[in-house]
Amino acid sequence: MANLSDLQPLNHPAFNKHKVQVQIKRDDIIHPIISGNKWRKLKYNIQTVKQSSSVQGVLSFGGCYSNHIHALAFACFEQSIPCIGIIRGEAEYANNFTLSWAAHWGMKLHFVDRKTYRRRYDSDYLAELQQQFPFYAFIPEGGSNSLAIKGVSEVITELIQQTTFDTLITPLGSGGTLAGLIAGDTSNQTNHKILGIAVLKNADYLKEQVESLLPELAKPHNNWHVLTNYHRGGYAKFSPQDASRIIEFNRVTGVNFEPVYSGKMILAFLDLLDEGYFSPGEKIVLLHTGGMQGLGGMIERGIVNKADWPMPEQVENKINQK
Ligand SMILES: Cc1ncc(COP(=O)(O)O)c(C=O)c1O
Repeated sequence: MANLSDLQPLNHPAFNKHKVQVQIKRDDIIHPIISGNKWRKLKYNIQTVKQSSSVQGVLSFGGCYSNHIHALAFACFEQSIPCIGIIRGEAEYANNFTLSWAAHWGMKLHFVDRKTYRRRYDSDYLAELQQQFPFYAFIPEGGSNSLAIKGVSEVITELIQQTTFDTLITPLGSGGTLAGLIAGDTSNQTNHKILGIAVLKNADYLKEQVESLLPELAKPHNNWHVLTNYHRGGYAKFSPQDASRIIEFNRVTGVNFEPVYSGKMILAFLDLLDEGYFSPGEKIVLLHTGGMQGLGGMIERGIVNKADWPMPEQVENKINQK
């Protein structure tokens, strides 16, 4: 299997100071739109739908700025698969950066209030939706299902061909990405450590959630940890200092991270280095999970400015083709 993404050395004075060797797995540049963990999670989901003669389309769930919704809409567009997004929020959000693109690529947006959206895992609600859309395959929020786990596990297959490492770090939201990495690391015995940096507050429940997503064979793996103290105030929250630290890190390393997922992983990593979490000589791989499209909505809302947070050229170019 060819490697989907490069593994690049990452250089920063903090790494020299703490004598660690750091590499970055560039899943963010796998594809101009379906980047990072979205590509990995959607790969087998889309393949399965394409191969099924009874499935006519795909339905999934997400917030108004969802990376998953954005990527899914484009993946379905490319494969000529009809798709529906059940979106938390009001119809006025349809014009925002993320959703206007999703609609442009043909996704039908169905807005639901928060109360209804909370039912997205309830069997009665899903049965109602299935009645309404009988020949649609349902993909959960964030794309995290067993097919996604299979797709993400291939990151490890690639990494093992590309390098040797002690520790692998990923941002953690719904748990599918971390679960996929754990599942793929069948070399549990070789002492790889896998860390998930929770990007949301009160995330202790995520450990159980990751466990529930693991395939049976991976359940005994105990080489992973969920770190819950690096959320910076909650989902999509970050202080001006946090933002400055990420911008500076981007400048020094030449790789762009955004402040919701990958940037929080970077801040956590820098803090963990200062806390003496890693041993001198440790070989660390950071997984860049993409999500750079999220900057579009943040720029639009004035939360960040474009000069400090450039979108990757390939995202901009693709977007300018609208
Ligand atoms: C860019 C990006 N990175 C990381 C994550 C976290 O992945 P997961 O939800 O699988 O834990 C997400 C959310 O799905 C994301 O959009």
